[in-house]
Amino acid sequence: MIVLGIESSCDETAAAIVRDGRELLSSVVQSQVDIHAEYGGVVPEVAARSHIEVINPVIRQAMQQANVDWDDIDAIAVANAPGLIGSLLVGCLAAATLAKLHDKPLYPVHHVEGHIYANFITEKSDNISYSLPKAAPQFPMLALAVSGLHSQLVMFEDHGKYHLLGETLDDAVGEAYDKVAKILGLPYPGGPSIAKAALTGDPNAYQFPRARLQDPYSFSFSGLKTAVLRAVQREVGVDHTFPSFELAARLDDVQQANFAASFQYTANSTLVRATLKAYEEFKPASVVIAGGVAANTDLREQLSQALPITIDYAPIQLCTDNGAMIATLGYYQAQVVAPTNPDDLEVKPTLSMNETAWGATT
Ligand code: KG4
Ligand code: ZN
Repeated sequence: MIVLGIESSCDETAAAIVRDGRELLSSVVQSQVDIHAEYGGVVPEVAARSHIEVINPVIRQAMQQANVDWDDIDAIAVANAPGLIGSLLVGCLAAATLAKLHDKPLYPVHHVEGHIYANFITEKSDNISYSLPKAAPQFPMLALAVSGLHSQLVMFEDHGKYHLLGETLDDAVGEAYDKVAKILGLPYPGGPSIAKAALTGDPNAYQFPRARLQDPYSFSFSGLKTAVLRAVQREVGVDHTFPSFELAARLDDVQQANFAASFQYTANSTLVRATLKAYEEFKPASVVIAGGVAANTDLREQLSQALPITIDYAPIQLCTDNGAMIATLGYYQAQVVAPTNPDDLEVKPTLSMNETAWGATT
């Protein structure tokens, strides 16, 4: 079964073709990073407009690269939740229109769950250069989903059968990366720039507190962001009333790298501790990480050291937003759920994974 996956929930317009939920035939991602970098973050109206401009060429390119035409495509999957409403609408409208036009079954999927399904892509055609995990994860599977909008631990008993163990009570970890980068004067998006600056920094230069929460699987990152802000203010000798956007100019390169490394270490070790605890309690057969922050090398290293099992990580290109993860999840959903009528397709900007366990319908 060949599925076209469409993704437009935030600031990447993406489409991909995946065969049987495991073989990647093409993946095209048009990032808006350059456009939003000017503003230091995603501007929703600008994001929606950019999606409109490129969605058709991106889909066309994905089909061309995979060497497929409409006769070859068996289904269309699209991320309809969660995300920015204007952005989601563009992908969904494109998917619904194409489904009607070409008479293809349509599967709306959850973006964060899609991130997790990137780990099931294990084969590829020759036009894809990055390497993939050797085998698909086994169930029961523990997933750490960490992106710009989400930080959550999910326990999967099987495809579509899962429950949320815990999630962030305030900022997502990716959001903390982005906000701390701003404080340190590092370019948007913050995650990759913090990771780069941290390479030359000392992770023990500054000690930041970890949030103490009653529930071991909940996260809180807004306190960590404030702790970094206060430490930077102390370091440069100003009080808390000093404008945060003027702090970076007073940091030298060594201080900047040390702050980046210390923040990165604390944020990642918080994620790793919770994941290890869940591993010990639920004894999953496999552990996967997903979402933009899963691209972070230090997180991968800390996790590999902490866990007694090996993780076969997905390539970075499939950790950040892409259409392949959506096509893959769409394939698995197509095995058990009925397609959605294109006229009934809705976007759900705040839908939690808690409300979408589709495997329960079998
Ligand atoms: O999954 P994603 O591409 O989009 C959302 O669904 O949010 O994740 C984007 C987030 C951003 O916060 C970005 O700063 C972060 O992932 N990110 C990283 C890295 N690459 C992207 N965070 C840490 N280290 C990275 N290498
Ligand atoms: Zn994402």
